[in-house]
Amino acid sequence: MILWFSGTGNSRYVAQQLAEQLNEHLVSVAEAINFEKFDYTLQPGEMLGFVFPTYSWGPAPIMLELLQNLKVAGYTPATYCYMVTTCGDDVGRSVPIFTKALRKHGFTLQGAFSVQMPNNYICMKGFYVDEKTVEQKKLRAAPERIENVAMRIAEHRCTTDVVVGRWRWVKSHIIRPGFRRYAMSDKPFHADPAVCSRCGKCVEVCPMMNIELTDNGPKWQGKCAMCLACLHYCPTRAIQYGKQTQDKGRYFFRKIN
Ligand SMILES: Cc1cc2nc3c(=O)[nH]c(=O)nc-3n(C[C@H](O)[C@H](O)[C@H](O)COP(=O)(O)O)c2cc1C
Ligand code: SF4
Ligand code: SF4
Repeated sequence: MILWFSGTGNSRYVAQQLAEQLNEHLVSVAEAINFEKFDYTLQPGEMLGFVFPTYSWGPAPIMLELLQNLKVAGYTPATYCYMVTTCGDDVGRSVPIFTKALRKHGFTLQGAFSVQMPNNYICMKGFYVDEKTVEQKKLRAAPERIENVAMRIAEHRCTTDVVVGRWRWVKSHIIRPGFRRYAMSDKPFHADPAVCSRCGKCVEVCPMMNIELTDNGPKWQGKCAMCLACLHYCPTRAIQYGKQTQDKGRYFFRKIN
């Protein structure tokens, strides 16, 4: 079983590729949380996988929310448990943070991998989507990386292979708590009514069912995962986050040939 979360499609793609190569089935974390489906059963020998984006040098907080309620019948100390996190650059101390959270809920992490994918974080000064050449380079490199990760998961390797990056302690334990507290609210989202075509795409792509479409455009409801799907998929670029996103690029995953 692979429990996955994704905003702009990178982690969904990775989860789908892994599921195909490992013959596993996929479970959407957003659906689990939205519909309070927290009870799952593993078949004998089945693995337990988690695939999600890195947010502020830690696991996307929604994954930690999932663990609060997750019950997995059939899980034993022999079950191979792994995480794969997608990131634009580096994951900081995501692995120890997720290991600790899993342990608290009775699971032991054995394999941890990162996959660099195009960056989607643009809500603060100094953060941009990748240049097209970098985006394409990452997308071209991804299939081989995923295949390699899948091979090691299939072999139940006890290993950590992630891009940690510099200043990991400061990023994960000083910046991240502040980010979670002050930079994950959906209050700064707004859509220009003159630009919004009321197409409903933002409602459709929001994994948390957090957007209501009114006559004046989208309204955010306060249960946001900060995945930025609404902002990036909006076809008219009507959606902004505060004042920082107006002139920045947009990104969502599309398969390249
Ligand atoms: C709120 C937020 C915080 C992010 N923080 C990081 C980070 O700390 N390090 C990093 O390399 N990428 C970071 N990113 C980029 C994403 O991890 C990356 O683009 C990821 O592949 C997006 O996955 P998705 O398309 O499945 O949503 C962040 C993105 C968001 C939305
Ligand atoms: S996706 Fe953009 S254009 Fe479509 S309804 Fe939402 S804000 Fe309006
Ligand atoms: S409101 Fe936007 S950022 Fe928040 S969960 Fe929905 S799509 Fe993601």
